[in-house]
Amino acid sequence: MKDAELHALLDQMTLEEKIGQLVQLSGDCFGGGDVATGPAAKIGVTQEDIDVAGSVLNVVGADEVHRIQDAYLAKSRLHIPLLFMADVVYGYKTCYPMPLALGCTWDPERIEKSYRLIADEARADGCMVTFSPAVDVVRDARWGRVMEMPGGEDPYLGSRFAEAMVRGFQAGLGEGEGIASCVKHFAGYGAAEGGREYNTVDMSERRLRQEYLPPYRAAVDAGAKMVMTSFNTVDGVPATANRWLMHDVLRSEWGFSGPVITDYAAILELMNHGVAADKDDASTLAMRATVDIDMKTDCYAHSLKRLVEKGCISQRAIDAACWRVLSLKNALGLFEDPYRGCVDSREAATHMCTPAHLASARACADEAMVLLRNEKVGTGEPVLPLRRGAKAALVGPYADSADIIGMWAIHAGKGPVKTVRDAFAERLGEDGFVCAKGADVLTAEELSGLGSFAKMFGEGTPGPQEPLIEEALAACRTADVAVLCLGEHPLQSGEAGSRTKLRLPGKQQELLERVHALGKPVVAVIFAGRPRVLEDVVPYADAILYAWWPGTEGGEAVADILFGDVNPSGRLTMSFPAAEGQMPLYYAQYPTGRPAGANHAGRFVTGYLDAPNTGLYPFGYGLSYHRSHLENLRLSDEAIMPGGSIEAVVDLVNEGPVAGTDVVQLYLHDRVGSITRPIKELKGFERAETEPGERREVRFTITEELLAFWRQDMSYGAEPGTFDLMVGLSSQDVLAAPFVFRA
Ligand code: GLC
Repeated sequence: MKDAELHALLDQMTLEEKIGQLVQLSGDCFGGGDVATGPAAKIGVTQEDIDVAGSVLNVVGADEVHRIQDAYLAKSRLHIPLLFMADVVYGYKTCYPMPLALGCTWDPERIEKSYRLIADEARADGCMVTFSPAVDVVRDARWGRVMEMPGGEDPYLGSRFAEAMVRGFQAGLGEGEGIASCVKHFAGYGAAEGGREYNTVDMSERRLRQEYLPPYRAAVDAGAKMVMTSFNTVDGVPATANRWLMHDVLRSEWGFSGPVITDYAAILELMNHGVAADKDDASTLAMRATVDIDMKTDCYAHSLKRLVEKGCISQRAIDAACWRVLSLKNALGLFEDPYRGCVDSREAATHMCTPAHLASARACADEAMVLLRNEKVGTGEPVLPLRRGAKAALVGPYADSADIIGMWAIHAGKGPVKTVRDAFAERLGEDGFVCAKGADVLTAEELSGLGSFAKMFGEGTPGPQEPLIEEALAACRTADVAVLCLGEHPLQSGEAGSRTKLRLPGKQQELLERVHALGKPVVAVIFAGRPRVLEDVVPYADAILYAWWPGTEGGEAVADILFGDVNPSGRLTMSFPAAEGQMPLYYAQYPTGRPAGANHAGRFVTGYLDAPNTGLYPFGYGLSYHRSHLENLRLSDEAIMPGGSIEAVVDLVNEGPVAGTDVVQLYLHDRVGSITRPIKELKGFERAETEPGERREVRFTITEELLAFWRQDMSYGAEPGTFDLMVGLSSQDVLAAPFVFRA
């Protein structure tokens, strides 16, 4: 409807109805069951609250959406439809690799197209808004939610994927296609101290703006329709009550005019934070921060009317919040079609796991996996790709497991998942290889520590492990090469998945070492939602392929790479730690006053006594089946003038033996600034395909904008001086050339 009609609708609404639009309840409140005793009572909402609520949390399924919407509208005085929102994070029924893995493709273009397909599945099943993408910058693998963050540790990369995912989700939104994107978690959630879930975040405004805010800004600039507050504090004030963050930065500086929703029960949690004495306090703080929707508490529902009557909150503030919610519903065409083209579950099923969708997920998984190690073995050749005709023993808890979709694949069934074993059987026939579980993911004790959720995965309580190991050793003895599919439990990463120990769980390390002792080539395929500490794996594995949680087609993609049908091109977006104690760990470190290698006597330079300053594998790193290198870096000029630019050109040489893709990365270092500047920062990248023997030029344009930063006086811009321009196939192996920026 036209804005004038929407304004007229707002004018007709009672205060209770306006407040209702600011309340989001879970689907079980709309079950029609006994509100007085069911989930509604647990939250503390009444039937009257439910009858005017504005949106529904995590209900999907065309028939269920129709049932709830129909029942709701039948009672709605003004026929304002419910908005259905859900976590569609890295796939709907077709599950893609987790976002941290998708970032390892360094292929935002592919991801944008894939997210358009994800949106098609979700929209057909009634989802209207997705709580995605999460774009928190993450530099601590102890935090379980690193798995959700496509940019990993880098704000520039995170920004590129944030805009790609928002554009993918929202393609065709005005024409009834796509789903609205809600970017999260605003802001800085990934910097939780100690990597401990929901822990305090505290940093300078400069660091927040320079290193953590850019991906959210990129999502907002790409048109994200909603923003979700984060659980953490920002400069001592919880994000959900933080007016500076939500109003001054997000709305006034960035021009965001859409609704802001809290994370799960975050308004109520303001009391736990100790910034609100009661629900009225909490509601007042959140409203003053211009937070519009209260997810799954009764704070807004039961405080706002009283607060307006007491003059604590203005009617204007309520109207403004309600207007933002109504405007989103109108932008989605809900007043014309309360189901947004969602017909029924039968029609929805025709959108799910189609060949095109599965092919897209597989292509993403092919590009997302990262080959970390590929040593030569007896034959003098690298152990991967597997030699045709070599008999493989496929061993480990993930050899034949559908639990490779990760913790947030809540709508995807495991049914369509292709396991590694399935993929091997397709290629080699049932008799072409041997398979044995070898070990459970966890010991019984570790599994019990994961709580009741854990029964969603795996096959119940682990039994004795020795028989499994013996069976696996027997299988390996009959084979030419052992492929071990190992990893963490899906619930050991994701939300509330913080860990202080990042080595192989259960008896998997023992399995690996005993298989290695057989003296045959060993390939380790690691399934995990985070970088793990691999220093104990490296000595026992001739090759390491990091598969992440690769999704529905994950098994196929593992086989694509192991058999050489795909030349791996994945490159890391988080530094892999050599030890847990190194974290937080990231490539864009600051030089410090005593850089490693500085001319100080012996030990008195920045570093550890028991670990290096860098990770085991660096940001931007990954191996392929071809060898390549960069050479002949040249700049079009040695100086950039204000508003000007220079061009950098480098030759990428494919030394063979096969065609492949490299990710050429551009880094800049500002040698002297009004504040200390990182030793390098990613400022550009390009996926470059080459044939064996081919030499091709890769070009980057360096503009003044790329030199800008939050200066000592908190103004934003570039400063004159000398810069190092670096190009590399990872953040560590770079060619460098200086240039000057002349103000
Ligand atoms: C969770 C997560 C958030 C998710 C929300 C709704 O606690 O923090 O990412 O979107 O609740 O499920």
